[in-house]
Amino acid sequence: MARGALERVESAFDVAFTPALNPLYRLGALGWFLYWTVAVTGIYLYAFFDTGVEDAYASVHRITHVQWYAGGVMRSLHRYGSDALVLVVLLHLLREYLLDRMRGARWFAWCTGVPLLWLIFAAGVSGYWVVWDELAQYVAVATSEWLDTLGLFGEPIARNFLHPSTLSSRFFTLMAYIHIFVPLALLFAMWIHLQRLSRPRANPPRALALGTLATLLAVSIARPAVSHPPADLARVPGAVELDWFYLFPLPLLDHVPGLVLWAALAGLTLLLLAVPFLPPRGRRTPAAQVDLDNCNGCGRCVADCPFDAVRLDPRSDGAAFAEEARVDADLCVRCGLCVGACPSATPFRRRSRLSPGIDLPELPVAALRDQVVGAAAAIEGPVRILVFGCRHGVGLEQVARTGAGCIALPCIGHLPPSFIDFLITRGLVEGVLLTGCREGDCHFRRGTDWTAQRIDARRDPYLRRRVPRERVACVWLGTDGERRLREEIERFGARLSETEAVRRRPAPAARDGKGARASAEEGRHGG
Ligand code: HEM
Ligand code: SF4
Ligand code: SF4
Repeated sequence: MARGALERVESAFDVAFTPALNPLYRLGALGWFLYWTVAVTGIYLYAFFDTGVEDAYASVHRITHVQWYAGGVMRSLHRYGSDALVLVVLLHLLREYLLDRMRGARWFAWCTGVPLLWLIFAAGVSGYWVVWDELAQYVAVATSEWLDTLGLFGEPIARNFLHPSTLSSRFFTLMAYIHIFVPLALLFAMWIHLQRLSRPRANPPRALALGTLATLLAVSIARPAVSHPPADLARVPGAVELDWFYLFPLPLLDHVPGLVLWAALAGLTLLLLAVPFLPPRGRRTPAAQVDLDNCNGCGRCVADCPFDAVRLDPRSDGAAFAEEARVDADLCVRCGLCVGACPSATPFRRRSRLSPGIDLPELPVAALRDQVVGAAAAIEGPVRILVFGCRHGVGLEQVARTGAGCIALPCIGHLPPSFIDFLITRGLVEGVLLTGCREGDCHFRRGTDWTAQRIDARRDPYLRRRVPRERVACVWLGTDGERRLREEIERFGARLSETEAVRRRPAPAARDGKGARASAEEGRHGG
C-alpha cells in the first residue's frame, strides 16, 4: 500500500518535473549536492567566524547583519541546506526500503547508509552550539547532560556550562572544531556508501541542482536565519525556536530518561542495520556465470554491470586473449545486464549449444531463445508484437488481452539487442516492444539506460542498423502503468499496420510452417 502511494506521488512528480528531473529519482544525488552546498557555505562562514567564546556570537551577528547580502545569505543557505539534507536523506532511506533495494548483495549501500544518519545529526547539532546564542546554550546544556547519562566521560561535560566562569575558550574552540571534523567524517562515510555501485549518480542533473539552489535561496531571502539573544550561563534561556529537523530528541529528554532515549535510538539503529537480512528473504538464484570458452575478454560486461560485480582478470585457460571476465557472486544482484552486454549472447549463433561468455543460470540465453521463438509462434493476428518486460516495472498480466506475446526478464537490460534483430529480420514478429521501470529509476540502476542506448546505437552491443527503428518501441512505466502499457501496445500495433512490412506480409496460411516453426526448430537444436 505504501509502495502504491509512493508510485502515485512519483507519477504526479513525473508530470510536474518530467521523469528526467524528478527529484524523487535523484534523492541520493540531491543528498550529495546539499552536502556540497552546506560545505561551501560553511567554509565561507568559517572565514569570518571567531571561535572564541567571547567573540563567537558577535562574529555571527556581523556575518548575519553587516554582511547580510553575502554572509547572511550564506548562513541561511547553510541552515536550510542542512535541513533539506535531513529531509532528502530520510526520503531516500524510505524510498530504498519501499522499493526493496537493499537485499542480497545490495545490503552494503543500506548498511553503510545507516551511520550517515548519526553523522548528519551530529554535524547539525554541533552546528547549533557554535553560534553561542540562547538556542546554542539550550542545545549545549541539553546534549551534554544527555551525553553524560552514558557515563563515558570522567568529568561530566555539562559542568562546563554551569556558570560563565566554567566555560573556557579552549573548550568552546574544541566544540567549533567538532563541527568541522564531523562533516569531514561524514564525507568519508558518504564515499564508502557508494563503493559497491558502479558509476554512482552523485550529481543531480544541472537543472535540478539549479532549481534546488534557487529554492534554498528564495527561502533564505524570505526567512533569513538569525540568532537568538546571546547565551548567558548565569540564567536559564527563555523560549527558543527549535529546528525540528535536528533537535527533535531534545524536548523528549524532558519526559524520557536520557539512557532510555539512547537505548531507543541504538535499538532503532540496530533494527535499521538488520533490515536487509529480515524476512521476506525471497528466492536466492545463482549469480551470473562466465563460460571461458565463449569469453574473449572484451570487457563489455564489466562496463555494464551496475554493481561492480564483474572484473577482468589475466587469462587463466591459455586462450589467445589477454583477459577473462570473472564474477564475484557476493556482489552480483542477478540482474542480467552483463548478459545483455555480451557480444556472444546472440540467438543467431550456430553452435551445438548456445552458450554466451556470461549467462544467468536462472534464465540462460539458450532457454530465452526457445521462449522467444515459442512465444512469437503463438501470437496470432495481423500484426504480431512481442513484448519484453521486467519483473520490477509494469505487470505483464494484461498484455495477453492485447493479443501480443510477452516475455518477462529479470531486467530489460538482460535482453541482448541481437534478439530484436533476430525476431524482426527472421520475420518472427512485426514489432518488438520493450518495457521496464520508469525512466531514470531502473530497479537495477542502469537497465533502462543501457537498453535505450543500445537501441539508439549509442552503446555496444547496439541494435544493428538493418532493423527498422519504427518496428521497435520502448515504454518505461511504473507498476501502476498497466492501462498505459495496453494503450501503447495498441498504438504501436496501429502504427505497425501502416508499415510496408505488414502490408507485404503473407497470409497466415502461407506462413504456417515457415518462419516461426523453422526458427523454433533452430532454437531447439542450437543456432
Ligand atoms: C548523506 C546521506 C546519503 C547520501 C548523500 C546518499 C547518496 C546515495 C547515492 C548518490 C546513491 C547512488 C544512487 C545511484 O547511483 O543509483 C545511493 C544509493 C543508495 N543509498 Fe544512499 N545516501 C545517503 C544516505 C543513505 C541512507 C541513510 C540509506 C539507508 C539507510 C541509504 C541507502 C541507499 C541504498 C540502499 C542505495 C541503493 C543501492 C542500490 O541501488 O543497490 N543511503 N545513496
Ligand atoms: S562481455 Fe562476454 S565476451 Fe566480453 S568479457 Fe564479458 S563475458 Fe567475456
Ligand atoms: S547479473 Fe551481471 S550485471 Fe547484474 S550484478 Fe551480476 S554480474 Fe553484474
